[in-house]
Amino acid sequence: MRLDKCLEKAKIGSKKQIKRYFASRQITIDGSLAKKLSQIVDPELQQVEVAGRSVKITGARYYLLNKPAGVVSACSDAHFPTVLDLLREEDRVDGLFPIGRLDRDTEGLVLLTNNGPLGFRMLHPQHHVAKTYYVEVNDALHPDAPAFFDNGVTFLDGTTCKPAQLTILSSQPGHSRAQITISEGKFHQVKKMFLAYGVKVTYLKRISFGGFNLEDSLPAGAYRQLSQEEIKVLKKYFD
Ligand code: URA
Repeated sequence: MRLDKCLEKAKIGSKKQIKRYFASRQITIDGSLAKKLSQIVDPELQQVEVAGRSVKITGARYYLLNKPAGVVSACSDAHFPTVLDLLREEDRVDGLFPIGRLDRDTEGLVLLTNNGPLGFRMLHPQHHVAKTYYVEVNDALHPDAPAFFDNGVTFLDGTTCKPAQLTILSSQPGHSRAQITISEGKFHQVKKMFLAYGVKVTYLKRISFGGFNLEDSLPAGAYRQLSQEEIKVLKKYFD
């Protein structure tokens, strides 16, 4: 955002007053004198000060949430609680939305933001953002399964998926466990891929998304804000 727009948004003063602050060399960014009012700043990542006072604008929000089963990853729903309902009231700012969707019965990592352009970029197929799921299925996964997923699964309706990486954790008739990494976000993709292999998913949990991992310290239903460092990394890739 331009420095002058940022200062207006922070209600530092009128356009004229802001020009005066600039002319009297009272605006600093990370301790250095502002060079021009049109320079681009990010008050989330940089320390902007006017006459020695720190400029605070309510910047974009980024949360990492552990979605429990039964909650929908949408902004509103007529029948079920949504991921927004899990946030404290003061954190439920305008424009927040989950980046991508998990089915109602799927658990795990959901990122939420009100930074629309960044959220949409993370979902754009060109970025191939990796998502890893822990999966349980109702039958054996044989040694041929990793190659089956790596070849790109085709659904019954002809939809083809990009190669996915499968690691079998345990396999028995009647119950197997695995991890799978995909780089797309087709509707019910993981469940349909396993159906194409011939087994049914009985439990699904997203454990990583775009480099973020679900931490053991974050129980189902809990969330945390991303750190400044994590936001920096996200912005570097997607802004
Ligand atoms: N794939 C699915 O089938 N369901 C999800 O919730 C996420 C990925």
